[in-house]
Formats: sequence, structure tokens, C-alpha cells
Amino acid sequence: MSLAQTQPEEPPVLVERDEGIAWVTLNRPHKRNAMSPALNSMMLEVLETLEDDEACKVVVITGAGDSFSAGMDLKEYFRETDGKPTSVRYRTYRAAGTWQWRKLRLYPKPTIAMVNGWCFGGAFTPLVACDLAIAAEEATFGLSEINWGIIPAGNVTKAVQTVMNSRDALYYIMTGKTFDGSKAARMGLVNEAVPRAELRAHTRALALDLAAKNPTVLKQAKIAFKNIGGMDWDLADDYLMAKQEQGRFQDPERGREQGIRQFLDEKSYKPGLGAYRREG
Ligand code: COA
Repeated sequence: MSLAQTQPEEPPVLVERDEGIAWVTLNRPHKRNAMSPALNSMMLEVLETLEDDEACKVVVITGAGDSFSAGMDLKEYFRETDGKPTSVRYRTYRAAGTWQWRKLRLYPKPTIAMVNGWCFGGAFTPLVACDLAIAAEEATFGLSEINWGIIPAGNVTKAVQTVMNSRDALYYIMTGKTFDGSKAARMGLVNEAVPRAELRAHTRALALDLAAKNPTVLKQAKIAFKNIGGMDWDLADDYLMAKQEQGRFQDPERGREQGIRQFLDEKSYKPGLGAYRREG
């Protein structure tokens, strides 16, 4: 999609479906996909719709044009809410967080952030809230808040604390310097960085891999990982056991039983080297 063809009145979010993958595109390229209140409210609607859509197995979030997202919209989200009653400002702020981390962090389906270009400030929250992230080597990241006089709120600081080490996070929070996709991968902010020309194909292959897995177990596994962060070892052990039992109870395809039978009785696969054959 060329920038020249993209009209500002287009919907702020686009959804394209492809073999179980929902490609969700932040679509304000003329504003570098800065997240406005309208975009935030549409993202929540889109995520809720896809949550209920059985045909959607994996959600990929990316940006139109040359940007992933330039963060929160400084005009519509900040300047235009200045001077409004605190209740109105906070409602606007909460609406952003509702999709960016409350919905996304424990989303029941696998999520991948595909960082195709500029990624600044507030965009780090949905980036980190996604389960996995693949970046273009050429993408440019920055915790730019310090450059325009605020701290990384909107839960950005919390988000980066969960995936970056303290030295890296503080360095970029305090300097506002930019870094590229390769550096983001080395720091663990994204899983890997690939040349931009290969980004979509690479992300698609990963998404299809996830789409082929048992969705009940995938959901249990990611939610368990994200929830145990604040638990001590005993509590985590108990929680994981309970979660495992819950998974068996909820799994309509009885994956555990299929997996064990195909390995021990049929000897048709090796769990260390690949997944069991899913039957109905
Ligand atoms: N909020 C609102 N508008 C934004 C925006 C943001 N976060 N980021 C970009 N825009 C707008 C610009 O105001 C400009 O609008 P205009 O055409 O009406 O003047 C348009 O998007 C294009 O931006 P421009 O700066 O000309 O694009 P660029 O490609 O030269 O530079 C960036 C891209 C991302 C480096 C630059 O736009 C930028 O620094 N944006 C702010 C990033 C930031 O600090 N975000 C943190 C917010 S939490």
C-alpha cells in the first residue's frame, strides 16, 4: 500500500485474513500509525471480534507503510485531552491500556508483533504484550518520551521491564536514543530480526506453525507463563499443576492422550522432535 494512495479517512485499523492468520494493521501511515483514541477503540473492537472468531488461530499486529507505530498520538491523545476533566483524560488513557495490555497480554490466541518500521514510546506496550515479536533489521525503535518531556507511562516502563534487562532499559529510557531491529533482537525485546524484504514471509511461517498447534494447550501455556512472574516457587508449582489439570479438562481434542498414545503405543512420532498428529 503506498502512502499516496492512503487517505486519512480510511479506517484506523485493517484486518486481513489468510489461512487462520488475522493480519491486523494499524492504519494511519500519514501519522506514522500514531495511536489515536479512534484507533484505540477500534483495536479493542477488532481484538474482541477475533477472540470469538473460530477461524482466527493467530493474530499478527503490524503497521501500514514504513511504520509500526510512532506511539501515542501527541495531538489527539495528549494535547486535545489537556484541560479536560481528569475523569475524561483518565478514561481516554484507560481506553488505550484496555487493548494495549489488558486485552493483549492474556489474549487467548497466540499474538505476534511484526515490527516493520518506526516503533516509539507507547508502541512498546502492545509490542511487549504480544507473545512473540519479529522485527525488520531496518526498523527503528526508541523510548523517546524523555525527548519530549515525559516519562514512559502508559505502562511502557512496566512492559520493557518484563523483557529487557535493567541496564538496557534504563539506558534507552534515560537517553531516548534509537536502536535498530538487530539490536532489539540482541537485547531480547524481539525474538528475531530479519531483512525487511523477508519480514512478512518469515512472520507468516511462524504464525502458521503456531496455528497448527493445539489451541487449548497454547492458550494455557502462554497464560501460565505470563501469570507466574509474581509468584514464589511453591505457589507457581501449585498454580501450574492446577492449570495443567484445567487444560486437560478443557481440551476437546485430548491432546495429551493422543500425544502419549502415538509415542508409546503407535511409535509414530518423537515428541522431542515434533508434534503429535492432531486427530479431529
Ligand atoms: N503523534 C502525533 N502525530 C505524529 C506522531 C505522534 N506520535 N508521530 C508522527 N506524527 C505525525 C507528524 O506530526 C506528521 O503530521 P503532519 O503531516 O500533519 O505534519 C506526520 O505524522 C508525519 O510525521 P513526520 O515527523 O513528518 O515523519 P518522519 O517520517 O519524518 O518521522 C518519526 C517519523 C516517527 C521519527 C517522527 O514523526 C517522530 O519523531 N514522531 C514522534 C515519535 C514519538 O516520540 N512517539 C512517542 C509517543 S508516546
